[in-house]
Amino acid sequence: MGGPTMAVMALKCPEIEVVVVDISEPRINAWNSDRLPIYEPGLEDVVKQCRGKNLFFSTDVEKHVFESDIVFVSVNTPTKTQGLGAGKAADLTYWESAARMIADVSKSSKIVVEKSTVPVRTAEAIEKILTHNSKGIEFQILSNPEFLAEGTAIKDLYNPDRVLIGGRDTAAGQKAIKALRDVYAHWVPVEQIICTNLWSAELSKLAANAFLAQRISSVNAMSALCEATGADVTQVAHAVGTDTRIGPKFLNASVGFGGSCFQKDILNLIYICECNGLPEAANYWKQVVKVNDYQKIRFANRVVSSMFNTVSGKKIAILGFAFKKDTGDTRETPAIDVCNRLVADKAKLSIYDPQVLEEQIRRDLSMARFDWDHPVPLQQIKAEGISEQVNVVSDAYEATKDAHGLCVLTEWDEFKSLDFKKIFDNMQKPAFVFDGRNVVDAVKLREIGFIVYSIGKPLDSWLKDMPAVA
Ligand code: UGA
Repeated sequence: MGGPTMAVMALKCPEIEVVVVDISEPRINAWNSDRLPIYEPGLEDVVKQCRGKNLFFSTDVEKHVFESDIVFVSVNTPTKTQGLGAGKAADLTYWESAARMIADVSKSSKIVVEKSTVPVRTAEAIEKILTHNSKGIEFQILSNPEFLAEGTAIKDLYNPDRVLIGGRDTAAGQKAIKALRDVYAHWVPVEQIICTNLWSAELSKLAANAFLAQRISSVNAMSALCEATGADVTQVAHAVGTDTRIGPKFLNASVGFGGSCFQKDILNLIYICECNGLPEAANYWKQVVKVNDYQKIRFANRVVSSMFNTVSGKKIAILGFAFKKDTGDTRETPAIDVCNRLVADKAKLSIYDPQVLEEQIRRDLSMARFDWDHPVPLQQIKAEGISEQVNVVSDAYEATKDAHGLCVLTEWDEFKSLDFKKIFDNMQKPAFVFDGRNVVDAVKLREIGFIVYSIGKPLDSWLKDMPAVA
């Protein structure tokens, strides 16, 4: 999130010098090369326009922090894996060391901007670290959460629904807010720049993600009921979404939501509710994560139960591993849970994703929970490593050759235009399609001869006769 945000800022503010710093040399080298460290449509174009002019990438973190007027901090805030709040609370280790470093190297007043999503009142802790180590320098803390989504980052940055800036209610705090507002005002209409107090800005970010995830869990809970009753979740979502108070977006039933933020932010919200003595509020949000877990497992169970209750030794093609299309990001992707479940049932997986590298897939399938948010050298890989049951291939036809079933787990556009007749001819029979994203044309596929399961859609007769899945 830091790289694309700062690249767009550099493009829109030619008179401001922007330096993206990172302690990882390979990552900075990648930013300075033709192959950027992340895949994001339109990003390369933005970087090429400004790199070397007013946009620079460097590992000399201290020098550039020393020289800057505004420091945006965009470090990881993983879910704690051990100790107090394990599995829920955010681990602020990286944030704290960034704050200490800023205090150490600064010789002039600075505005420090929280860009990464943090638990409410983190700014207060950061402020304390900075002021207790400040040697008389004045630091102003602002919270400026980012709302961009992956895959559409550049578009979202060009045209944000809103920019949110939280700061202290003092004269110095308001001055800092204005300074940051002036930066965004280069391209965002001022009426879309919302200024609040620090805590509101921090909480709004967690709340926005929780609300979005809650919509998906709501429609996914509905998808299970649709399958049981013969309703069609797409029709239900459309009918519901035309109510202008509800709106049509974010109502696509799926195999589950993934990504680096939704689950982490909700777990964090739950923890904050619990710490504030609000168990009922915590339980409400817990259910959003539970339904998401249920949906992923429900999908995997559907695969197993449809294939005579066993996938042992059967080849299953996995089409799509990224947590959504147009990104190579696999953090918390539902594919991890689905694949692990099928591997546990002794299936042989053949995985294809247009953007995700084999090494990443293998790492994801053998990593401990929540470890993805730590630097690679700190990630714990299970001793037994990745199972020999998993094969990663470079196209959909190879993945599906001789397979008993195929699962669509990411809605990549190219999956819509595959030659399914050719795929069918090369698969074992009966040939199953399990569409976790509702992207394939089920009617056409049934005509070809496939048995098709589409999430939340009326079941075809084969699936109806199979044991119900819990
Ligand atoms: C999300 C939010 O949308 C951004 O506003 C926020 O800034 C970002 O998290 C963040 O906090 O960094 P992102 O995780 O990139 O963005 O992706 P989304 O488009 O929100 O999708 C999240 C997951 O929900 C994906 O797995 C997607 O496939 C799934 N999804 C989305 C559905 O299953 N159904 C839908 O209708 C929409």
